[in-house]
Amino acid sequence: MNDKVFIEEQFPVSKISKESYKERKAGASQTLTGLGKWWGRKPLILIRASIIGMLMPVSDNPKKDRDIFLKILTMNDEGLWLRRSKSIPAKVIQNTLSKDEWNDISQDEKGNLKRSWSTGLSNEQKEKIIYNVFNTLSYDDKLTYCNRPEQIEGPDQSTWNDINAHLGTHANNLQELVVELGKKRFGHTPKVGDCFCGGGSIPFEAARLGCEAFGSDLNPVAAMLTWASIHLIGGGKKVQQEVMDAQKKAYEAADKQITEWGIEHNDKGWRADAYLYCVEARCPATGLMLPLAPSWVISEKYNVCAVLKRNDKIKGYDIDIITGADKNTMAQARLGTVRNNRMICPETGEEFSISGIRGDKVVNGKTVYGLRLWEKDDLVPMPDDVFQERLYCVRWVETYVEKNSQGELVEKKRHHVLSVTKNDRKREKQVLKILTERYKEWQKNGFIPDRKIEPGYNTDQPIRERGWTHWHHLFNPRQLLINGLLSFLLSDISKNSETLISGLLHIGLCSDWNSKLLRWVSHIRKTGMGGVNQSFYNQALNTLYNYSARNLMSLYSYRIKLPILDLKNYGCIVDVRDARTINVIMDLWITDPPYADAINYHELTDFFLSWYEKQIRFIFPEWYTDSKKALAIKGSGNDFKESMVDIYSRLTKKMPDTGIQMVQFTHQSSSVWADLAMILWAAGLKVTAAWTISTETAVGIKKGNYVQGTVLLILRKRLSNETAFLDEVYPEIEDEVRNQLDHMMELDDKDDPNFGDTDYQLAAYAAALRVLTQYSEIEGQDIQHELFRERDPGDKSAFEKVIDRAVEIASDHLVPAGLNKHYWKSLAASERLYLKGIELEKHMEARSGAYQELAKGFGVRDYNFLFAKTKANAVRFKTGSEFKRSHLGGNDFSGSLIRNILFAIHETVKSEDAREGLKWFHAEIDNYWHHRKLIIEILNYLSNSIHIPHMPHWEKDADAALRLAGAVENDHGGRM
Ligand SMILES: C[S@@+](CC[C@H](N)C(=O)[O-])C[C@H]1O[C@@H](n2cnc3c(N)ncnc32)[C@H](O)[C@@H]1O
Repeated sequence: MNDKVFIEEQFPVSKISKESYKERKAGASQTLTGLGKWWGRKPLILIRASIIGMLMPVSDNPKKDRDIFLKILTMNDEGLWLRRSKSIPAKVIQNTLSKDEWNDISQDEKGNLKRSWSTGLSNEQKEKIIYNVFNTLSYDDKLTYCNRPEQIEGPDQSTWNDINAHLGTHANNLQELVVELGKKRFGHTPKVGDCFCGGGSIPFEAARLGCEAFGSDLNPVAAMLTWASIHLIGGGKKVQQEVMDAQKKAYEAADKQITEWGIEHNDKGWRADAYLYCVEARCPATGLMLPLAPSWVISEKYNVCAVLKRNDKIKGYDIDIITGADKNTMAQARLGTVRNNRMICPETGEEFSISGIRGDKVVNGKTVYGLRLWEKDDLVPMPDDVFQERLYCVRWVETYVEKNSQGELVEKKRHHVLSVTKNDRKREKQVLKILTERYKEWQKNGFIPDRKIEPGYNTDQPIRERGWTHWHHLFNPRQLLINGLLSFLLSDISKNSETLISGLLHIGLCSDWNSKLLRWVSHIRKTGMGGVNQSFYNQALNTLYNYSARNLMSLYSYRIKLPILDLKNYGCIVDVRDARTINVIMDLWITDPPYADAINYHELTDFFLSWYEKQIRFIFPEWYTDSKKALAIKGSGNDFKESMVDIYSRLTKKMPDTGIQMVQFTHQSSSVWADLAMILWAAGLKVTAAWTISTETAVGIKKGNYVQGTVLLILRKRLSNETAFLDEVYPEIEDEVRNQLDHMMELDDKDDPNFGDTDYQLAAYAAALRVLTQYSEIEGQDIQHELFRERDPGDKSAFEKVIDRAVEIASDHLVPAGLNKHYWKSLAASERLYLKGIELEKHMEARSGAYQELAKGFGVRDYNFLFAKTKANAVRFKTGSEFKRSHLGGNDFSGSLIRNILFAIHETVKSEDAREGLKWFHAEIDNYWHHRKLIIEILNYLSNSIHIPHMPHWEKDADAALRLAGAVENDHGGRM
């Protein structure tokens, strides 16, 4: 029996990439993001497509299989129509229709249609027109008017009839289908697990689809987010209401308390909405305490800035806030007092390194950092500390009433950005006093952190740069008091695990949005008033010279807002554990492992864990509450490989023989994944397919971006212990690669291509791996031995050579569109590289990695001279006119037919006369008459680069190629 599943045979990578990108672009309104910060959450549509692809059987009609797969995911025409969420503007409709069609439909209604699409035509007429127009749009354009697949119920009933007829099922919804497919394949509801569940995408989507899901992670923050995705988002209306009520109540109580304390209001009754603080240090040039900031601008739009005024009485500076500052003052403010980690003295212009100010020293070749390390109980710097902290500006909001044009009284708000007054300083003292009275108790009960910062790659930064040793040192007294008060109230009000966890997650968001890592942005466009960036605006713990603190109510916008989804109580177990100790059996393991130093989850998450840990213990007494740094998978060396082999060997054991695995990872370069393939091979798995999905950016808009592909490797258990020899394996691989590519090309849609050049390349790797990984030994060497063998750089194993050979086969096999296979075969490798490079450019591929892979595939080493541009993500090959006379004549490419053709094009462009090009052929090409047909073929191919909007540099050359092709065709040897 053929037990292959859909994803082992094909996958609509282009459409899934587009859908994934759309989901990513939804930003904060993605389903899981509102629960809390996580780095690298996988798009839910990618998981949905993966699970369906791993369960759906294949028939002997791959095209029909694909149609059915797209129907299940509502990614076919009807599905997209069903997902429509926005109306199509009349203008788009007019542009899409031909003039006649437009005139037809709008004969007596045209005026109405133009003025407003909503009047004139009957609803039925409109719907029909929109339907027709919609179906003429490209997939990308359709998506702009659509919801995401997860935002609708799924296919309609008539589509279910088609799906059931093809698959022999009886489903009326996605969950029923998934359960039925699971039963057919495994005899029960499919069990889907992820032992690196992170932000929870995989178990969440698996549970939503009706699988029995399992998600675990080493990190308790990840487990908490995953638990929340299932129980809060999946909790339905009741939970949503409880969560909303608890948060509202907590804020009301906090607001009352803050108002009573009088720490956010001034004498006029105005309330502050932002506080700006800076660090100050003694300037070696003047001996004065100098406030530090890279810029003193507060609002670019309203010309608000801080101005430093020397005050010898206080041995420092007063800071005045000016609104409506003149040009010079603003320019001065923009310079700041610290630049490139150097303090700049405003009096003398002298610069001093911050490292020197801190007192860092090199002792015995090692840097010893100079700052005093803060004691646990320090809430502010000690008077002798190098860096002091100071409030320098408060932004106040005045609320007043005014009559509007109808004479009604309406409430209005006005901002005042002001210098710090005596009373402000009093309030700061009051804040410290209130906090001091409570913080020990709050720490004991886990409402504010007391955890030490463990040294590490990212965590060393706050220790080294500020002397902060505990996580609460990353918050100033005002921030600790507000976040802590909320934490206490949310916990106090909560009645069950759901509200407690939502409260904690909210505190996580508050700490991300109210810490000393909050960068002030003076050019926020929305209001022009200036605003803040979250602490984790990148994946680091960057200390700042000036930062902002928020008022209480501004944090309310970060409350947990849950999209209501009904998960119908499908099962999902969430656990905290090292993946090496997994003890559940799953039919499908879908994992996205940490790979090669990408993100230091175990360090960064301590920022949040320090706020959660004591309270998590109440809710999940069986969970541990540290980040288990020592067990986290890191690096890319032998430790990494060993842990990964351990984990994947374990997962392989923990699945039935019919089980399937998918390993996802987002790669930096297309070669790194070969390493991972070796790891999985050594773990007893065999590769059955590989696909790349672009989750980071739109396919087709590859201009100058940093596209990251997520590679999906599909794997099965290796059930036999066969050995093979390379001479047997090579022909098998050659056939497999060719078959794979032919199959993909046959399936591909000419109008809306599914596969790009790199997809074919990856498919070639996968085909080679499919052959290789069936064997546990090659040439008598086992793969474990090979994986851990010490190797010199450049020393290629037999395995890698086989994989390289697969790519070579693919490169030869993939003839650029528009060229005859017979001629293609007659060209040298460097010539093929050039022509294929032009094809890549036509497909908007501008990543240097793609060109490198191509060169590798053709076995061409020396190709840098072909590039017109070498910027990492904007590369392309030169045109003939750009080459001019360079690299002309000699060996290899310089003396090749293509190079001569390019020069003849150059001559034709320069002289505006094809005869000049022809002359060159006659004079320089041996055996010109013999090569004539090939020359015409290539000239025609190059002339296809004309009128391509993103290739304007080819315009003249392509035109010349066309004329020259004509000239060669008409060349019968007469005099020129
Ligand atoms: C790339 S992330 C997974 C992201 C996840 N797929 C998502 O959609 O959010 C990798 C995860 O592996 C976890 N991890 C690292 N070492 C681990 C170990 N030894 N056992 C289990 N999980 C580990 C990290 O905490 C991190 O959450």
